[in-house]
Amino acid sequence: MRYFKSNGSLQTTSTRSFSIIFAFVVVLVFGYLLGSRLNDSKNRILLLFSSNIQLNQKLSPKPQQSIKSIYPGYNLTHLWSMRLADENYFRLAKLLPCRTVEYSGGPKVDKIDTCNHSAENEYSIQNTLEAQSWLYKHQHPINCTDKRFAIIQNYALSGFGSTVHQIVWAFGIALADNRIAVYQVPGKWLYGSCTSSTPDCVFLPITNCSIPSKGSATQIIQVNADLGHWSNPILPSIFQNRTFNWYRTQLLFYLTRFKPETLTHIQNVISQQFTPPSIDLHHPYIALYVRRSDKVRNREMSQSYTLKQYFDLFDADARRANISTVYINSEDEQVFNEFIQINKEKQGYYKLISIKVQRNVVFASLIHMGSEPRGKIVLEFLTDLFIEANADLHAGTLTSNWCRLVDELRLVLGKTIPFYTPENRYLMDMRRRK
Ligand SMILES: *[C@@H]1O[C@H](CO)[C@@H](O)[C@H](O)[C@H]1NC(C)=O
Ligand SMILES: *[C@@H]1O[C@H](CO)[C@@H](O)[C@H](O)[C@H]1NC(C)=O
Ligand SMILES: *[C@@H]1O[C@H](CO)[C@@H](O)[C@H](O)[C@H]1NC(C)=O
Ligand SMILES: *[C@@H]1O[C@H](CO)[C@@H](O)[C@H](O)[C@H]1NC(C)=O
Ligand SMILES: *[C@@H]1O[C@H](CO)[C@@H](O)[C@H](O)[C@H]1NC(C)=O
Ligand SMILES: *[C@@H]1O[C@H](CO)[C@@H](O)[C@H](O)[C@H]1NC(C)=O
Repeated sequence: MRYFKSNGSLQTTSTRSFSIIFAFVVVLVFGYLLGSRLNDSKNRILLLFSSNIQLNQKLSPKPQQSIKSIYPGYNLTHLWSMRLADENYFRLAKLLPCRTVEYSGGPKVDKIDTCNHSAENEYSIQNTLEAQSWLYKHQHPINCTDKRFAIIQNYALSGFGSTVHQIVWAFGIALADNRIAVYQVPGKWLYGSCTSSTPDCVFLPITNCSIPSKGSATQIIQVNADLGHWSNPILPSIFQNRTFNWYRTQLLFYLTRFKPETLTHIQNVISQQFTPPSIDLHHPYIALYVRRSDKVRNREMSQSYTLKQYFDLFDADARRANISTVYINSEDEQVFNEFIQINKEKQGYYKLISIKVQRNVVFASLIHMGSEPRGKIVLEFLTDLFIEANADLHAGTLTSNWCRLVDELRLVLGKTIPFYTPENRYLMDMRRRK
């Protein structure tokens, strides 16, 4: 045996195996502590063990408290209400061929290589937790007095995704100047049908500081959220080594954390319309949003794509990974007839899930609605966003702000299997599109 051969290697080998065993025991004990605290079992420990080792290494000696202090919205499986990529997702991802996609529309082209499982993978859950925790703490300081603020005002008059993206840019401008972002109240956000008329109507509050009643012109500035694009993005120094693509996804995720009322609505819709009544029980599934109508009429998309064109893109991969459930949404009702036809050709391989929503709603119709029906539509949008972000595979067109929202959320959650897109364009657009 090796021990007898070399004295030198005896020491290193045994020290190394001792530390490995020690680390294993620590992780296991920690896992059990958490497991019992959270009243849960093996699964969590396994997950903890497989995907969060790096995170654990960063924890201080009192793990139970540290996990809370890392981030209040995190509980090992979820970040706020969103399920993080888990071992099932990664198993599935490994069955699919490698792809490299290049995101354009930012300061430079940023690549994502789906087979780069190296520790430096930007879209790791650990990086997400660090970023989200940083953003949360920045926006929720212990004491708001003497802080500098940027009041976000003047929302864009455009589609839901477009307005949210422009709010992301305004938020980015506040952070770049080391300011806490707050929403002007009332905000006149087209999609905020509560008294504040800001994204806080449906999302968790952007900050727990209130706008200071008085302050100098340098302490408080206004930032417009209808600026169309962010011409020269600046990242806070802590993120200086990150790509713009990664950064914008983190900002978007922070701003769109669902608040409990929104989540309750979403869960109710899902439990009423889906059998079984939880989205977790439909995995694995592919989510497809077919954007057409005004997008094509206004020539932002060069053409509309048939449903078959989307299916042709993912069919082989879906079969390889045994994915047969497909969630489809579109503002165009016709898509569901196309599905029936396609599935006939595919001998009924696919099982469709969808939600009942008011179809044919586009920006031009939303703008003429009263705030109450518009609020209802916004909740339908967010239900769709939740289901899509939770999917394993995604298909759509990234010229659409809506599809980009989904793309951003899933990247933050650690899901890097690229979008299946007939446009074959990956955009992190800083320009304004509806
Ligand atoms: C983690 O959070 C999610 C969403 O808020 C919740 O559904 C889940 O039960 C939580 N898990 C634990 C172990 O607390
Ligand atoms: C993997 O991705 C990281 C950044 O995310 C990059 O630094 C590294 O060079 C990539 N590795 C390979 C082998 O492409
Ligand atoms: C804001 O939240 C932070 C973190 O939870 C807390 O420490 C702080 O006291 C809160 N501030 C206010 C003004 O409520
Ligand atoms: C916050 O800081 C201000 C000024 O430094 C101080 O007067 C105030 O008491 C602090 N508030 C709290 C809740 O600690
Ligand atoms: C960014 O990378 C440089 C060069 O590798 C390094 O010195 C610096 O500490 C990094 N900054 C951060 C915030 O990680
Ligand atoms: C897919 O399902 C088939 C039939 O149920 C099974 O034989 C096969 O092993 C599965 N493949 C994977 C990768 O799970």
